[in-house]
Amino acid sequence: MCGIVGYVGHKKAAPILIHGLKRLEYRGYDSAGMVTIDKNGANRFRVVGRVQNLDHAISDIDLKMTCGIAHTRWATHGKPTETNAHPHTDNEGRYYLVHNGIIENHAKLRSQLESEGVEFVSETDTEALVHLISKFHDQSLETAVEKALRHVEGTFGIAVTCIDEPSKIVCGRRGSPIVLGVGMNEMFVASDVSALIQYTDQVIYLEDNEMAVVTPDEYQIRTLDNKPIARETLQIEWTMEDEDLGSFPHYMLKEIFEQPTTVDNAMRGRVVLGEGCSKLGGLQSKIDQIKRLKKIVIVSCGTSYHAGMVGRYIFEQLTDTAVEVELASEFRYRKLRLDETTGVLAISQSGETADTLAAIREARRKGALTIGLVNVVGSTIARETDVGVYCHAGPEIGVASTKIFVSQLVILNLIALLIGRYQSVSLSEGVDLLKAMMELPSQIQQILSRAAQIEDLARRFTKVQSFLFIGRQLHYPVALEGALKLKEISYIHAEGYAAGEMKHGPISLIDADFPTIAIATKDATYEKMISNIQEIRARSGPIIAVATEGDIGIRESADMVMYIPETHDLLQPILSVIPLQLFAYYCALYRGCEIDKPRNLAKSVTVE
Ligand code: AGP
Ligand code: GLU
Repeated sequence: MCGIVGYVGHKKAAPILIHGLKRLEYRGYDSAGMVTIDKNGANRFRVVGRVQNLDHAISDIDLKMTCGIAHTRWATHGKPTETNAHPHTDNEGRYYLVHNGIIENHAKLRSQLESEGVEFVSETDTEALVHLISKFHDQSLETAVEKALRHVEGTFGIAVTCIDEPSKIVCGRRGSPIVLGVGMNEMFVASDVSALIQYTDQVIYLEDNEMAVVTPDEYQIRTLDNKPIARETLQIEWTMEDEDLGSFPHYMLKEIFEQPTTVDNAMRGRVVLGEGCSKLGGLQSKIDQIKRLKKIVIVSCGTSYHAGMVGRYIFEQLTDTAVEVELASEFRYRKLRLDETTGVLAISQSGETADTLAAIREARRKGALTIGLVNVVGSTIARETDVGVYCHAGPEIGVASTKIFVSQLVILNLIALLIGRYQSVSLSEGVDLLKAMMELPSQIQQILSRAAQIEDLARRFTKVQSFLFIGRQLHYPVALEGALKLKEISYIHAEGYAAGEMKHGPISLIDADFPTIAIATKDATYEKMISNIQEIRARSGPIIAVATEGDIGIRESADMVMYIPETHDLLQPILSVIPLQLFAYYCALYRGCEIDKPRNLAKSVTVE
């Protein structure tokens, strides 16, 4: 949610700010604003709705200023109105602030400031901070910001400018990401690297309770209690092209079709076929501890949680280590008994999900070894875990996660195989798994080549009110994932269920208007899945099956079939999820939904 962009240098700031906000649009927001400043003053513009409304508002004004900050807001305090949109300013119009996060003690700060004669104009929590900065102004902007932030409780990612020092941006972070982009005689500030990859690939992430003073030629990072910090720049892996839509109508479809490459990228340099093993440099420093762990707890949210659920089956099959999987939002509040014999594996595409980050911090506090499976290089979870593995999947722009789920499943297999080959997995078992894994890109391509058939199928179901997805074992989480995809982008109510639970309640829902998608691929639970399908058929429930190529018999039970190639049992979810992704996409398309930016959702849930 929400986004920050800042620029200070030798170019006009306005176009860079607008471009940056447009790059952050996919993250979800409800209003937007910007301010450019120079020694003569400030030009502030704020709008409700899309960034293009802001672009339109400044279109016939030649803003020459070379310093500015901008924001896309995802309202937490105060409705999405122009007055509540950021940047916020003090009563003299000297300071300008954009803020991601929540200032928990804003009410107390506000009443204190009002008692001192400060006038508030917005309903937001954020406004209290800009007045506090103004109150503490003495010798420099950074000193005022530093003093003000000491009084703030809650989370913030901020950028601040002041007309008295019009070639400076001060930023700070606690719980909401801030990244600096280093250019030639110019500097960038953003909440996400997407906003600045057109201009530089050299970035520096602030850590919690740090701030930075940014001018065209330099940056200084310090803690909030003014201790200087030296930090190397990171090189961003991906480019603007990775973020371009190309010939696709939506990022979600592009990312679904990228999945053959995604699997290749997840495996690249990590398969040692001759030894039936994987090679994961990011875990090497703690491999002795990892292979002796008594328990691994997988923590994550949403689609990443579904990947973790599949991961539990994978770890059970490949390792002798006890494995649990927990919703991060639940794990963080539990009475946990963890120590150095426990590994906590956080799965997160963004590396910024608040609940997953909190779970990791709780695990570290209890002495557990923390492992990250993350896509965004340098993200908070990547930096705060002891060791980790990157997806190398490039940016995932569509809010509905698709290619990352597939990448996560590949890497979970690689991590489990790495551990398992120190334990009970044989050379031949490892070779079999890796050989099957190397077939996946072409097999995914086969499924994608049949997208038109899935489109036809989806078109028939766009009017239904509810859907049931069922699966067993590794396909139970895939059923949950298929249901999540459908509900989050088509707004059709969908529920995923363990197929074995049908008789314990859900079968009462079945009738001619209540369709079910059943994942019934050739594996140990196939016969039981066929029974489930026949029970549903007997009650006139429409049935779509995901089945293994060559399984003609299933046509006697299911009304419609989406086929996937045969593969290793542990890899089947990587293939069975793809028809479900396409099905959800086409349902949403024919329902006229906003596919890449579904209502109420954001790409990275950085607030709790
Ligand atoms: C899935 O399609 C959603 N975008 C959402 O459930 C997402 O998977 C969840 O918010 C976790 O995000 P993360 O992987 O970045 O931590
Ligand atoms: N809490 C602030 C507000 O409601 C910032 C919200 C956000 O992160 O966009 O304006």
